[in-house]
Amino acid sequence: MAPGSWTLLDGIGCLVTNDPGIGAGPLGILNDAALLLGDGVVQWVGRSGREPHAGKVARFDLDGRAALPGFVDSHTHPVFAGDRADEFAARMGGRAYTAGGIRSTIAATRAATDAELAATLSRLTTEARRSGTTTIECKSGYGQTVPDELRSLRLAAAHTQETTLLAAHVTPPEFDGRTDDYVRMVIDEMIPACAPHAKWIDVFCERGAFDADRCRAVLAAGVAAGLAPRVHGNQLGPGDGVRLAVETGAASVDHVTHTSADDVDALSRSATVATLLPGAEFSTGARYPDARRLIDAGVTVAVATDCNPGTSYTTSMPLCIALAVREMRMTPDEAVRAATLGGAQALRRSDIGVLRPGARADVIALDAPSHVHLAYRPGVPLVSHVWKGGIRQ
Ligand code: NIG
Ligand code: FE
Repeated sequence: MAPGSWTLLDGIGCLVTNDPGIGAGPLGILNDAALLLGDGVVQWVGRSGREPHAGKVARFDLDGRAALPGFVDSHTHPVFAGDRADEFAARMGGRAYTAGGIRSTIAATRAATDAELAATLSRLTTEARRSGTTTIECKSGYGQTVPDELRSLRLAAAHTQETTLLAAHVTPPEFDGRTDDYVRMVIDEMIPACAPHAKWIDVFCERGAFDADRCRAVLAAGVAAGLAPRVHGNQLGPGDGVRLAVETGAASVDHVTHTSADDVDALSRSATVATLLPGAEFSTGARYPDARRLIDAGVTVAVATDCNPGTSYTTSMPLCIALAVREMRMTPDEAVRAATLGGAQALRRSDIGVLRPGARADVIALDAPSHVHLAYRPGVPLVSHVWKGGIRQ
């Protein structure tokens, strides 16, 4: 890219850099700030009017708006067909959520064409970008056959490098009563076929899904095939997910709703991020995880959407930030950090979730004077501008 296509964002009223070496507090906040974006990365960050001379740059005045790193949504399931609005309505009438509903989406996804799945994926990733998400992790998991998981990953790869093989989501109907046979097929056939198309291997470690031993076997096979582990755990009740994630060195354990003191202690001594998904509690009516307890114990926390048709049909990181603040005892600063830098840590990425020279030029601006408004003005579409790799979206 020629310097002529570099962009100077100036007049930023409140800039969250997430680098305490650049600005004030843990969020590294700079007021009256400017950012120089070029060649896909941040070239310079500092006070408005003090930018270096960089030849011909396009100037963009943010007129006092807040700016921050683009959201990193580190947990989504956007490759599916159908919806489960009826199931949601029944739940709001008092019915409990069970993992069994996943099978209805598996049936619809298997029956869909590639073009139908691709259209839904495009719709959801566009929706996510409009609300400020510049990096999205996408899981497979609604196929549970080799060809269906493979096509899910191929379709997801058109939108992100953060692709996840969710091989052990639920035992599909053709393996009813034969979960061990399904796990054997995953290990012997699915993982070898899908590993070249994924970065991560994920499992649903939960009563009604897969127990710790089966999950451990799937994760080990994934790691042997070059994938890095992540875990769905402790969503619907207490269980072994957190311990399994720590034991396997998983980048993240996600949901983490029902945790014991030992779980919190194990997480606090590990490099595993706890990814909280308040959209799921919103939509299932379950109680929210206690982020305060995790943060006070020293656990690194991320917030993500869990976008899926069963438990959290939202792509909105701003909604999840507002829920994290109001329902999970996070401060607005903590929630914004968890939705940006926390997500980056959950994906083991140091080039996103932060605005410092050399980081990816993924920046969002808000029609608001500070990032706090993301929680203070819930439900309002505050994201006014999105730059991804320095390119205005
Ligand atoms: O993250 N927990 C497992 N998977 C999804 C739910 C999927 C579904 O109900 O379709 C989740 O909540
Ligand atoms: Fe999930």
